[in-house]
Amino acid sequence: MLDFLTLPFGRHERHRTHRIAIVGCGYVGLVTGASLAELGNDVTCVDTDVRRVATLAEGEIPFYEPGLRELVLRNRHLGRLRFTSDTADAVRDCTFAFIAVGTPMSADGSCDLSALRTATLQVAQDIDADAVIVNKSTAPVGTGDLIATLVREHRSDGGRIRIASNPEFLREGSAIADFRKPDRIVIGTQDAQTADRLRRLYAPLDAPVIVTDRRTAEMIKYAANAFLATKISFANEMADLCEQVGADVTGVIAGAGADKRIGTASFNAGLGFGGSCFPKDVCALIEVAQRSGAPSRLLPAVLAINRARVERIIENLSAAVGDLRGKRIGVLGLAFKANTDDVRESPAIALITDLVRRGARVAAHDPVAMAGARRMLPQDVALVDDCYAAANDADAMLVATDWELYRRLDWRIVKKLMRGSVIVDGRNLCDPDRIAAAGLHYIGVGRLRRPETPEGLGKWLTPGPARAVHAPAG
Ligand SMILES: NC(=O)c1ccc[n+]([C@@H]2O[C@H](COP(=O)([O-])OP(=O)(O)OC[C@H]3O[C@@H](n4cnc5c(N)ncnc54)[C@H](O)[C@@H]3O)[C@@H](O)[C@H]2O)c1
Repeated sequence: MLDFLTLPFGRHERHRTHRIAIVGCGYVGLVTGASLAELGNDVTCVDTDVRRVATLAEGEIPFYEPGLRELVLRNRHLGRLRFTSDTADAVRDCTFAFIAVGTPMSADGSCDLSALRTATLQVAQDIDADAVIVNKSTAPVGTGDLIATLVREHRSDGGRIRIASNPEFLREGSAIADFRKPDRIVIGTQDAQTADRLRRLYAPLDAPVIVTDRRTAEMIKYAANAFLATKISFANEMADLCEQVGADVTGVIAGAGADKRIGTASFNAGLGFGGSCFPKDVCALIEVAQRSGAPSRLLPAVLAINRARVERIIENLSAAVGDLRGKRIGVLGLAFKANTDDVRESPAIALITDLVRRGARVAAHDPVAMAGARRMLPQDVALVDDCYAAANDADAMLVATDWELYRRLDWRIVKKLMRGSVIVDGRNLCDPDRIAAAGLHYIGVGRLRRPETPEGLGKWLTPGPARAVHAPAG
C-alpha cells in the first residue's frame, strides 16, 4: 500500500484538526479531500454532479487514480470523509473551504472561470465569516482578487472572509504520493494569520512551504506548467534534429539531463503533452500575457511544436508502411499518459482520429481509459480488451501511451499476430533491441541505432533526412 497510509499517526494527532469543505470532486478535489481526511481532518466533499456524488456515496471512484479508492473507503469508514451535493451542508462550520472545480479552456484560449465563479458564490452564501476560502483551481493571476470581490458583493460581512491561493501540483497517476510528499506547498496570501493557519494544516506533510502574495502564487502555478510544457517541446525539437543528424535523442536527454540544472524528469520526446492541464494552462498564460501587454514569444512556439507531434509520428508511420488507406493499425494506449484514465487532450485520441481520417482501420487498447475514449473516438475504431488483440492482422503497431504494460510486451507474440512488422514507438518507451530481436522494425522518435561500421557512419555525415528504423536482427 502507498506509504501515505503508513504515516505515523501519533504525529498528526498533536496537530489541530479542522472541519474542511472541498468544492469539486474531480482529480484534485477528491485526492485533496481524502488526503486531508487521512491527516485526521473532518472533510466534506461537495459536487454539483449528483451522479458523481451518488457514485462516491456507494464507495466507487468516478475515475482511475491508483490508491484513491482505498484512501476514500478507509476515511469514509472512519467517519472523516463525507460526500454531498449541497454546498451549504458542506461549508457549514468549516474552517477552510477549498475550491477545486474545473477551469477549462474557452473557445478563445482563455481560462473559463464560470464554474469557479458559481462555486465561489455558493460557498460565500453559507460559509462562516472566520473561515478561509482557499482556491486550488488553476486560474489566471487576479482570480483571488475576483473571488474576494464576489464574496464582498455577495455578503455584507464578506470583507472578513479570507481568500488564499493554494495552487495544486499533483500529477494524475501519482496524485496521492504527490500530495503526501509535495516538492513544495505554495500559500498565496498577505494575511499572516491565514498563512499560519494553512501552514499548520499542512504541517504533518513536512514539506517546504512558500508563502507569497496571492498573485505570485497564481503565477507560480502557470510558470511551473508552462516550463514543463516547454521542456517537452524542447525535447521534441531536439528529437526532430536528432533524426536529421543521426543522433539519438534518448542519449541526448540522458546526457543533457544529467546536469542538475536541467534534470531528466519530464524531459521526453514523443507524441507531446496532453491532459487537462498543460495545453489549457499554456493557452491561458499566452492569453493573459497578450492581454497584459507583455505577449509571450516562447509559449506560442511551445504549443506549435506540440501540435505538430501527431502529424510527425504519422509521417514516420506512413514512411514505413506507405499509403495508410486500408492499413490496419494497432494502437497501444488512449490515456494522455500512463496510470490515468484521463483522455482529455490526449495525443492518442488525436492520433487515432487522424489515422481514421486518412483511411486506416484502427484497433486500440488501454488498460483503463477505453470507456472515456469511446465517447471521443470515431465509431469504427475497435477497442480491444487485450493489448495483444490490437496486433491481430496489423500492418503496424503504434505505442501512444507510456504504460509499463506495453514496455513489457512479448514482441515475439506480437510478431506472430501481425501481418506487417512495423512498430512505431510514439513514447520512446520500448527497447528497440528487444523489438528488433523479435523480427520487427522499430521506429522511435529521434531515436537511432548508431551504425556499427565506419562505412555506415558515412550516411549520417551526408545531409538529408535520416530514417529512424531499427532493422530486425539477423
Ligand atoms: N487534474 C490535474 O492533474 C490537476 C493538477 C493540478 C491542478 N489542476 C487544476 O485543478 C482544477 C480541478 O481540476 P480537476 O482535474 O480535478 O477537474 P475535474 O474536471 O476532474 O473535476 C472538477 C469537478 O468540479 C465539479 N464542479 C463544477 N462546478 C462545481 C460547483 N459549483 N460546486 C461543486 N462542484 C463543482 C465538477 O462536477 C467536477 O466533478 C482545475 O483548475 C485544474 O486545472 C488539475
